[in-house]
Amino acid sequence: MLTLRPPDSPRSLVTAAAEILRIHAREVLDSRGNPTVEVDVHCKGGARGRAIVPSGASTGRHEAVELRDGDAARYGGKGVRKAVAHVNDQIAPSLLGGDVAEQERIDRLLCELDGTADKSRLGANALLGVSLACAHAAAAASGKPLWRHLADGGAGPTFEPCLPLPMVNLISGGLHAGGNLDFQDFLLLPIGARSYAESLEMTVAVYRALARVLTRHGFEGVLVGDEGGFGPKLHDNEQAVRLCVEAIRAAGLTPGRDAALALDVASSHFHREGRYRPKGADFSAGDMAALLKRWADDYPILSVEDGMAEDDWDGWKTLTAELGRRVQLIGDDLFVTNPERLQRGIASGVANAVLVKVNQVGTLTETLRVIALARAAGYRPVISARSGETEDSTIADLAVATGAGQIKIGSVARGERLAKYNQLLRIEEEMGPGAPFARWRPLDA
Ligand code: PGA
Ligand code: ZN
Repeated sequence: MLTLRPPDSPRSLVTAAAEILRIHAREVLDSRGNPTVEVDVHCKGGARGRAIVPSGASTGRHEAVELRDGDAARYGGKGVRKAVAHVNDQIAPSLLGGDVAEQERIDRLLCELDGTADKSRLGANALLGVSLACAHAAAAASGKPLWRHLADGGAGPTFEPCLPLPMVNLISGGLHAGGNLDFQDFLLLPIGARSYAESLEMTVAVYRALARVLTRHGFEGVLVGDEGGFGPKLHDNEQAVRLCVEAIRAAGLTPGRDAALALDVASSHFHREGRYRPKGADFSAGDMAALLKRWADDYPILSVEDGMAEDDWDGWKTLTAELGRRVQLIGDDLFVTNPERLQRGIASGVANAVLVKVNQVGTLTETLRVIALARAAGYRPVISARSGETEDSTIADLAVATGAGQIKIGSVARGERLAKYNQLLRIEEEMGPGAPFARWRPLDA
């Protein structure tokens, strides 16, 4: 059996505070009412760590595999009892007695136990729950908050911690809302904020103003999507952009100076037979790039995610050539937080930023590797939640610890989103007056 602490190694090498005593997984529910994996890690000295795994709806084809039971009699096949059993019966016995602070070794062991390239045997959801719960337990054992533990090298590399600029969902379309928009997210970048707390204040002002703007335009009783963004039935995607700009103004802010916009086009979902087919259109990659260029010219749009589809590397080259010097171009479905895919993007000069979602890759160590790889190549990492989330706020600590610079959580509504925004407020307080905050840096600066 593969084990973290080889049976013949002396027990005395592991301190009681950090010795893994018990690992227990259970099935809990996420913000869509779908089952997901929660893991508790207990150390001999009393320290404890807990993590809950998020889940996407608009998932990339190349993500690590989220193991679902497929038993239609329970939760429409979405149960995670198999993944839970993999933690309790296969992973836990291999880690017991080992040192919870050895994050890299733990994550390597998890990958070895799984033994597949896409983590499909034990499930990336099983692996991630254990990986993150161990990080929490190690932080607790060392008496530090998670962000400080990670910044101090608790999972390998050390970092300069810094509060991230949030990228906040205002209007939702695509697979996240019932409306008729096929571009997925229209987001706010509160670029004029001088602190994290101020960025939230500005964001809430714009979010409320948008509610009034929507009513004024005749969109009454608008409900919110999976990530808390408004889900109105608008005429077209561009109207969403115009209404967001109007909301910035209505909040008393200057578009482009105090607050700007970001898009997540999630274009893989309307890419068919080599063509981009948002409602009523039939575009080539060149047409898509031209459309996004016109929008970047006409509106204060500073960031575009998945403007091209997940396997359209040529389209991505066209888009990067067209906009890459002045607009942040984020690969989400394109890179899926995968070091090999990011490396390919860097080598071919595609995109200039990477969305970082812990469950796309499955372990903390691999997540940190992707962030380091991006940084070394001058690509911006944007730490991101999933559309299916929980009260788990690990990514808030991760974003601060790594000084990633940006975080994308969803809107300023719904508890699973606020769990992260509020954790960032707590960390800001912990960091004290003058807590470092990553302000927006123009690409051409
Ligand atoms: P997902 O969407 O979590 O449903 O994949 C988020 C995104 O596309 O950024
Ligand atoms: Zn995305």
